[in-house]
Amino acid sequence: MKPTLSLLTSLAHQAGEILHAGINQHFQIDHKGVIDLVTEMDHRSEDFLLGEIRRRFPTHRIISEEVGLVEGDANHVWYVDPLDGTVNYAHGIPFYTVSIAYAEEGQIRLGAVYDPSRDEMYTGEKGSGAWLNDQPIGISEAQDLDQGLLVTGFPYDIRTNLETNLDHFVRFSLRSQGVRRLGSAALDLCYVAAGRLDGFWEIRIKSYDIAAGGLIAEEAGAVVTKVNGSPDYLTPPCSILAATPGIHSQMLELIVSKGSSFNTTPDS
Ligand code: IPD
Ligand code: CA
Ligand code: CA
Repeated sequence: MKPTLSLLTSLAHQAGEILHAGINQHFQIDHKGVIDLVTEMDHRSEDFLLGEIRRRFPTHRIISEEVGLVEGDANHVWYVDPLDGTVNYAHGIPFYTVSIAYAEEGQIRLGAVYDPSRDEMYTGEKGSGAWLNDQPIGISEAQDLDQGLLVTGFPYDIRTNLETNLDHFVRFSLRSQGVRRLGSAALDLCYVAAGRLDGFWEIRIKSYDIAAGGLIAEEAGAVVTKVNGSPDYLTPPCSILAATPGIHSQMLELIVSKGSSFNTTPDS
């Protein structure tokens, strides 16, 4: 038996309901780093999702944010972010998601990203399309950076790692319609897919942050690569640049031609 998109949708929905019910209640918050939080709700969502996946597919491999790697068959891999947008969630800001992707033989096939605050379920299936609450979605028509509304994020080691993304935040702020920082990479990608935003980039991101959203954005028509233009954006070290085709090429040109703190060396 193989996973289906309706299974991913159902799991993301149920985990989202756990999060939605808990957001303004009391929950334990721990620190993984100075600004890197994990809440009791991250664990509750993850326990639910991993329990359901393991029960149905005990031989599959799972990569999930809080437990890390659950060993299993490398031809069947699940990418789980049980709560993407933890800092928002901990502050009671309703911009967070559950993100689940399934890859077969190294290819992401299925993705579901659920935003419980708006009851918005984004889904994608390789070669078949992308949907928001079962309606097909597509990227915006903006092809020029001047008209592009962008979004980005920053890794939790921003205080200690010299490769910060701040120079690009400045650079793109001066060249685009604006740059948002919304706090959930998975949802940022879905907003590009739905045509609400025109481009997203981030460095030192993790595969479970972007596996589902990356597929959904691609299926909606976005070009999705690493920030150096290489297509293997899920191969560590992961980075991502997802945008409409015209905006993607203009952003890439700015990243590569101007020089930056990013490592833009093509992967060997
Ligand atoms: C984070 C969010 C944020 C992004 C960070 C991620 P988390 O995930 O997606 O938008 O900028 O890089 O780590 O910790 O909320 O699951
Ligand atoms: Ca995340
Ligand atoms: Ca998370």
